[in-house]
Amino acid sequence: MQGEEIIRLERLTKWYEDGHTVLDHINLSIRRNEFLTLLGPSGCGKTTTLRLIAGFEQPSEGRILFDGQDISHTPPYRRRINTVFQKHALFPHMNVFENVAFGLTVKKLPKDEIEERVEKMLALVNLDGYGKRPVDSLSGGQQQRVAIARALVNEPEVLLLDEPLSALDLKLRRDMQVELKRIQQRVGSTFIYVTHDQEEALTMSNTIVVMNEGRIQQTGRPEDIYNEPKNPFVADFIGESNILPGHMIRDGLVHFANHDFPCVDKGLGVDIAVDVVVRPEDVAIVGAEQGMIRGTVESVTFMGVHYEMRIVGEDGFLWLVQSTAMTPEGTTVGMDIGPNEIHVMKKEGC
Ligand SMILES: Nc1ncnc2c1ncn2[C@@H]1O[C@H](COP(=O)(O)OP(=O)(O)OP(=O)(O)O)[C@@H](O)[C@H]1O
Ligand SMILES: [Mg+2]
Repeated sequence: MQGEEIIRLERLTKWYEDGHTVLDHINLSIRRNEFLTLLGPSGCGKTTTLRLIAGFEQPSEGRILFDGQDISHTPPYRRRINTVFQKHALFPHMNVFENVAFGLTVKKLPKDEIEERVEKMLALVNLDGYGKRPVDSLSGGQQQRVAIARALVNEPEVLLLDEPLSALDLKLRRDMQVELKRIQQRVGSTFIYVTHDQEEALTMSNTIVVMNEGRIQQTGRPEDIYNEPKNPFVADFIGESNILPGHMIRDGLVHFANHDFPCVDKGLGVDIAVDVVVRPEDVAIVGAEQGMIRGTVESVTFMGVHYEMRIVGEDGFLWLVQSTAMTPEGTTVGMDIGPNEIHVMKKEGC
């Protein structure tokens, strides 16, 4: 269960000497025990946000509160926060065991307790028996797991993780996702996690913060971000989408793709320009004469569990549609979209 607020970012802003604003008035409240993910494309400011929270950078404007105290200028070692960096920073002259044990050794814990906790952590990250290996003899993925074990062994109140799984292969990444989530729930730490992998964010997080160009685009639960994206950027970034221009005729009726569709959206106004998002899995393929709209299948790709089709609508819009049924290229099909599958967004700047 997530509790009360532990960290608050207030108008957090960062620019460098070159005058480029990297973070632009970020406001964010992070709760105890929360698994919060910063998600966004390369260069959007994710690592910078973590570095500010950890104390390796100073804000240009705004402040960071920890348990209500302003820590904006507190040195990193005095913050109750641990970090797993994007590029792992292990001690090259120490072996795996010594690296993981480092924080506990500094705290001068009893030797057998250190041993027990380190061994348990190594088992958790699938590195049983690696304790005596020099770290530079490990693969990139193994080193990254040592870095995770080294941070987790301290059971920090807040753990910052910057793309900790990006060096791992898909299978190990999936396993580690489950493992990290389990550890987070068991230890009860607050995780602030950075990734540019949408699926990773959706499966692991309690809260996702979608960022672009130094600004927060949307903050919400994974379901909300996926089902109710606030703008075309979020819709496009969080999953493959059909994004079409349209206009709201009135509450519950929206026009796009040369057709009037019943929808569940209300309160946007009458005769208002909107963007409409339809997920590829939400378009139902029906007979050419039965559909709300019609199109011609341009290409079909088998994706393992479903087929992905590109369908050119009569208005020229290129639809992305996923279906478990295969429809051959060149077929004219009908497409139906239910009211709940239509997500209407106000046009940007309106
Ligand atoms: N020391 C610095 N001086 C000038 N610009 C910097 C500095 N550090 C970062 N930047 C710029 O700030 C922007 C955000 O960088 P940041 O590392 O936070 O991105 P990111 O979201 O973590 O990207 P990635 O997914 O590639 O890791 C980038 O445009 C980067 O070039
Ligand atoms: Mg980064």
